[in-house]
This record gives sequence, C-alpha cells and structure tokens, in this order.
Amino acid sequence: MNKIDLSVNLGGIRMKNPVTVASGTFGYGCEYADLVDITQLGAVTVKGIRFVPWPGNPLPRHAEVPGGMVNAIGLQGPGVEGFISQYMPFLVAKGVPVIVNIWGTSVDEYAEVAARLSDVEGVSGLELNVSCPNVKEGGNAFGTDPSTLAALVKRVRSATRLPLMPKLAPNVPDIKPFVRAVQESGADAIALINTIPAMVIDIESRRPVLSNKVGGLSGAAIHPVAVKLVWDAAQVAQIPLLAMGGITGAEQAIEFMIAGATAVAVGTANFIDPSTSLRVIAEIRSYLESHNMQSVAELTGSIVLE
Ligand SMILES: Cc1cc2nc3c(=O)[nH]c(=O)nc-3n(C[C@H](O)[C@H](O)[C@H](O)COP(=O)(O)O)c2cc1C
Repeated sequence: MNKIDLSVNLGGIRMKNPVTVASGTFGYGCEYADLVDITQLGAVTVKGIRFVPWPGNPLPRHAEVPGGMVNAIGLQGPGVEGFISQYMPFLVAKGVPVIVNIWGTSVDEYAEVAARLSDVEGVSGLELNVSCPNVKEGGNAFGTDPSTLAALVKRVRSATRLPLMPKLAPNVPDIKPFVRAVQESGADAIALINTIPAMVIDIESRRPVLSNKVGGLSGAAIHPVAVKLVWDAAQVAQIPLLAMGGITGAEQAIEFMIAGATAVAVGTANFIDPSTSLRVIAEIRSYLESHNMQSVAELTGSIVLE
C-alpha cells in the first residue's frame, strides 16, 4: 500500500493528520477519552480559557434546531491556572498536540493568558477567540473591527512565541480585511468560523429558549456559509487556515481543504457521534488513495474554477 502523507504544519503547530476538534465541543479532551482514542487526532483543541475562572451563562444555554444547535454557554471555564493543573497533565501524558483556545475581557487579559501558557509543557499553539457571540465583554467585541483586532493580535504576539491563531467571526461584511489585519500583526494561522449569531423562541411561552436570549448557530446548517468564508479568506491568506463549521464527515472536511484550508476541526458532530473526527481522518486517507494523491497538502487550495 502507498504511504500517504497526512501530516500538516498549521503555522508551527505540527499535526500528524489535518483533523482537530473545535473548541467547546470536546471539553478538555479527557471527557471524551473513554469514547475516542484522542491520540489519533492531529491535535486536541480545548474549551475557551480566560485568566480567571468563569461560570458562563445560566441554564438553559443550548437548544437543538434543524441542522444543528444554538448555544450560549458563555465560555465557562476553570481559568488558566485551573486548566494547567487539572487538565494539562492528562493531555501531556497522551502526547497529543494541544491547541488552547483563549479569551479575555481586555487586551491585557488575552496577553496574560498567552504569557502564562507560553512555557507550559504540551501546549502547541493558541487559538485566540475573538468571535464568541455569547459573552457581553470580550469575544466578538475584538473580532468585528479590523484595527481593534490588529491591536489585540500585536499585543498577544509580544507576550508569547507560541503559534498564534486568531479565530475569526463569520458575521462581518467582508472577511478579507480581518485576514490581512491578523497576518500583518504576527498571526501564524487563522481559524474560521465561529458560530453565527442566532435566536430560538418557544412559541408557547413566547420567551427566548436560551437564558442569554441569543446564541450562536453551529452544525451542518452552517457548513456552506463556512466554505464561502474559507474560500474568501484563502484569496488573501498567506498563512495556513484551520476550517470548521458543520463538518459531519470527510466530505465537508475535504471541501474545506479544496477551498484553501490546511487543516479542519470537527465541532457539533462530536455531540452526535464522538468518533466523527476519527472517521473523518480514515475517510480523508481513502479519498486520497482513490484519487491517486500522495499527500493531504495536495488538496489545499486545489479548487477548480474554470
Ligand atoms: C457548545 C459549544 C461551545 C463552544 N465553545 C467555544 C469556545 O469556548 N471557544 C470558541 O472559540 N468556539 C467555541 N465554539 C464554536 C466552535 O468551536 C466552532 O467554531 C463552531 O461550533 C462551528 O463548528 P461546528 O459547526 O462544527 O460546531 C463552541 C461551539 C459549541 C457548539
């Protein structure tokens, strides 16, 4: 059998295959470890971490909808020290690359979290969440204006040498100025997309279903939107793209790579079938074999337009 090269370099994050999991849909890895051999993943991306512990939003904070879910978890987490002491020893023992999703309510807080994680064994890179629609301060406030975003990325860049990957918001008129802003500010890769602002109303009570009233849509329904944004981003990106949004199998993952992504993340599908990401890896390999390709890198940006 031909040896197919599935490895990718996501802006300095070296992955043995192009598949990770999307932040917030896979806990800190350990929650899924009895169900999935997490060492088979290209990387584990953990739930959003800020400097201090954070309770997130009150319940209810998610609702199932046709084609996906709307959530407003609100970035509940143990804070950076809690994360390092409670979860990193397990992940280090597994030997899998770890991408830590970080956020803050100020530029300084993002930089403090990044600096604290810089020398922690096992951390391979930082995903900067500048696009969460579910918190009042921070999150999306940094991701919807290119110059605000550029200032944030520059500040975090000066605080760490870890690979830095801002995660862009989908709800902007044009993604390209954001791509340029982060790559000119020292980002090593770009993740996209986060959830799309959304709302669900209970028609009997006529109240919003989520305590936060509004949330973010994820799952199969958002996939074509994400493909368009990844393709748009690829027009101007000189750094690798990590694509996510509605992957349910290898077909959507391959579509993302053809549009220009170097790697992909499986999100909401983990709640339906926790082994989706491993199935996606196996099916990407089969696709490459049946299409006579030697490496997954051949897929990236291979879209045919004429
Ligand atoms: C329950 C839930 C929690 C999430 N938490 C985070 C988070 O902490 N940080 C973040 O950047 N994105 C978070 N996201 C967004 C996902 O990482 C991903 O970008 C989005 O869900 C699109 O991918 P999908 O359609 O495959 O789920 C969350 C999504 C869901 C559904």
